[in-house]
Formats: sequence, C-alpha cells, structure tokens
Amino acid sequence: MRLRDRKVLVVGVGPGLGSAVAYFLLREGASVAISARNAERLNGIVAKLSQHGRIVAVPGNAARPDDAARVVDSARNELGGLDHLVVSAGGYAETPLQALETPLLMNMLELNFLSHLYVVKAALKYLGPGSAIVLVTSIGGAYAAWPRHVAYVSSKAATAKAVEVLAAELLDRGIRVNGVAPGGMSHDFEPGRDWRGARRLGDPVAPPEDVARVVVWLLTDEAEWVNGAVIPVDGGRRLR
Ligand SMILES: NC(=O)c1ccc[n+]([C@@H]2O[C@H](COP(=O)([O-])OP(=O)(O)OC[C@H]3O[C@@H](n4cnc5c(N)ncnc54)[C@H](OP(=O)(O)O)[C@@H]3O)[C@@H](O)[C@H]2O)c1
Repeated sequence: MRLRDRKVLVVGVGPGLGSAVAYFLLREGASVAISARNAERLNGIVAKLSQHGRIVAVPGNAARPDDAARVVDSARNELGGLDHLVVSAGGYAETPLQALETPLLMNMLELNFLSHLYVVKAALKYLGPGSAIVLVTSIGGAYAAWPRHVAYVSSKAATAKAVEVLAAELLDRGIRVNGVAPGGMSHDFEPGRDWRGARRLGDPVAPPEDVARVVVWLLTDEAEWVNGAVIPVDGGRRLR
C-alpha cells in the first residue's frame, strides 16, 4: 500500500471522479476526508466506501474562502493531520460568446478556479516536505480549444496555469503540485467493478477510474520527481 497512514483531503467529491479517487486512496492505505456542498450525498459516499478504510465527510463550499478554511481545518482535526490534498471541485457550462453574462463567468471561475486556490491557501499551514497537491482541470483547459466554451475552458486553463505557479512557489517548502486534465468522464462509479471493459482508447467518454488512478499515483513516492505538470488523461481522445 503506497499511501499507508497518509491523511488526504479530497475536495469536490460527487458520484464520479471524487468517489473513485477516495476509493483508490483507501485501497492504498490512506485515511480520507471528502468534501463538497451536498452533505447528504457525501454521507452516502462515506457509507458506500467505509468498508474499504477510514473515510469522513467534511461538507462545505470551497468557493467561499472562510468555508474552504473551515473544511481544511475540520479535515485536519478529523484525520489527526494532513499530508496530501486533491481538489476536484468544478462545474460545467456550454456558452457561446454572445451568451456570456457576468454571473455565469463568475460562477465558472468560482467553481473551477477560485475554489482550488482557496483550499490550497488554507491547507498550506498543515502541509510540509513530502506533501503533494493535485488539482483537477480539463483537457479543454490545457490541451484543446473548444468553441462555445470560453467561460468553462478559461476557468480550467487558469487552474492549469496555477499548477505551475504554485509548484514554483512551493519548491523550497518541498511540496509538489501537479494537475490532471481529464477528457470526458461518466459520473458513475462503483467500487471493484471492471471499468476497463467499459472503454477503448480514443473514446470520448470513459469511466472515472483511470483518471482517479493517475490522481492517486501523483500523491505517491513513485511520482516524487513529477512536479508542476498537468497530465492529460483522456485515452488519447484529444489526438483524433
Ligand atoms: N466529467 C467530465 O467529463 C469532466 C471532464 C473534464 C474535467 N472534469 C472535471 O473533473 C472534476 C470532477 O468531475 P466529475 O465528472 O466527477 O463531476 P462533478 O459531479 O461535476 O464533480 C464536481 C464536484 O465538485 C463539487 N463542487 C462543485 N462546486 C463546489 C464547491 N464550491 N465547493 C465544494 N465542492 C464543489 C460538486 O459537489 P456539490 O455540488 O455537492 O458541491 C461535484 O460533486 C471536475 O472539476 C470537472 O470539471 C470533468
């Protein structure tokens, strides 16, 4: 188990990628705190995954700086420490340029970008040498240009760039910062299923497990020389 006794906070956990990340973290021996706004759904995920290891729910809105700080503090108190951080919070909207309005732009920035910065900022007082951070962005924000998606894609691009800047800023503290840029993922996850049978290289949408495994790998010592990178995880779909 590559993350035995490590304590990990995952922010932005729903039934898809976040649940898959939590599951593979537990399988690697980590203790896990999961966060999102919907407390009821979080409790359901805890109930589903608790047979695999120690997992607690810390609900909150990461797009509000005070709440993000409260979530980080609660996670640290519940777990008895904090070693690693994953931020997967996000939201999606298709918007042609003519339909752009300030509330939608702000919403995309809050969910896909600002929430990540608030959580990282709040966690820094607990992280130290050997800690790792993974931010989840999107293929659209790092490796592709999607027409009619300028608000979504730009907010994801901001997070991809923040990965590099934060990694540079935290070099001397021994904290790694990386990103993953998923292609299309389904929102369903079931522990222990055969997800490989549900996708082929180049598919537009795939189960979240493959992305989750890269997120978890980035937290392990196997990735200790990977820093400031945003890894595309789309089965090569962007190459079509
Ligand atoms: N699915 C795809 O095709 C795809 C492709 C590329 C990138 N991504 C990105 O991958 C990540 C995971 O996506 P997913 O497919 O698992 O679907 P998702 O359901 O959209 O996951 C995002 C989760 O973030 C939580 N969240 C949103 N705003 C939040 C906030 N302010 N504070 C705390 N939590 C917040 C949501 O839960 P609450 O509503 O309960 O807060 C939701 O469960 C997202 O960042 C998404 O943008 C997804």
